[in-house]
Amino acid sequence: MNALRTPDVSASPEPLRIHEVCVRDGFQIEPVFVPTERKIELVNALSRSGVAKIEVTSFSSPKAIPALADAEAVMRGIDRVPGVEYAALVPNVRGAERALACAVDELNLVMSASDSHSRANLRMTREQSLAQFADIVAAAAGQAAVNASLSTAFGCPFDGDVPAEVVLGWVARLVDLGIDRIALCDTTGMANPAQVQRLFRAVTERWPDVTFTAHFHDTRAMGLANALAALEVGITHFDASLGGLGGCPFAPGASGNVCTEDLVHMFEAMGRRTGVDLERLLTLARQLPDIVGHPVPGQVMKAGPATRRYPLP
Ligand code: COA
Ligand code: ZN
Repeated sequence: MNALRTPDVSASPEPLRIHEVCVRDGFQIEPVFVPTERKIELVNALSRSGVAKIEVTSFSSPKAIPALADAEAVMRGIDRVPGVEYAALVPNVRGAERALACAVDELNLVMSASDSHSRANLRMTREQSLAQFADIVAAAAGQAAVNASLSTAFGCPFDGDVPAEVVLGWVARLVDLGIDRIALCDTTGMANPAQVQRLFRAVTERWPDVTFTAHFHDTRAMGLANALAALEVGITHFDASLGGLGGCPFAPGASGNVCTEDLVHMFEAMGRRTGVDLERLLTLARQLPDIVGHPVPGQVMKAGPATRRYPLP
């Protein structure tokens, strides 16, 4: 091995897994209620775009998240395309019961790494979340996979820094419950690439058998840089939202997730395979302004892919 050679992140053949969260993280913060039929149409189209997983909805309290009050209807109304996993966000036991009744493939349990965001978002302490997760893991056994999403893992809009030791402590507690899929979430885009590498390196070294997902928001224009940083330390699972929609309604200043088609465009341009049909995603992303009633942040949907050519003037 030539020690002087720059590590080539495109050398690994392992395909990357893209988790589409637009219909959940994206629509949950939209002031307009996207009609159930349109949500179903979008999920069905996304199912045929090559994404590995779709977070279809959220079984939260409809008072907390009115935009996703139609969770059962959406979950039961979609086509289940073989090879695609269908997940839903779940904040408590009641949500898990609702999700299991709709036969979701994966319960995405949400808790916060920071105390203040936990109280604001879930009206629970972190210990109370964890106590519910223990019951949910037992209830889900043999029925659905369980992922835990740790919000504010890179910083909290109320409490500020969330020390890595605190995050590692909650990851350890989740692993102790038998949870082997964990997303570290940068809820309000406070992460930077160096921090991303430190934290993902620490968790993957300590828990090599756990599947870790990177969940970034582009609030401070570091979303793609953070995704690349995570890739460079071996992360292969990424949450992302079509058009760059998204945000937690209970995190002040929250804005869109890293944009799926921009992320896929970057990875594919680097020679990494995602299995995703970029053109299909772009076609869907261009429908979003009409669906949500405003322009959306995605950039490749506006500029076209880097392969686009113009006639000479
Ligand atoms: N699904 C549907 N209804 C639920 C529910 C669920 N998962 N959990 C609680 N409820 C209902 C209760 O039945 C009760 O209804 P009622 O007022 O008609 O009696 C009401 O909601 C309040 O229940 P309570 O247990 O006191 O909850 P809460 O008001 O303390 O809220 C949560 C706790 C977790 C339910 C709520 O904060 C929530 O759904 N948060 C999710 C936030 C979210 O999804 N954020 C974005 C993702 S980052
Ligand atoms: Zn998010």
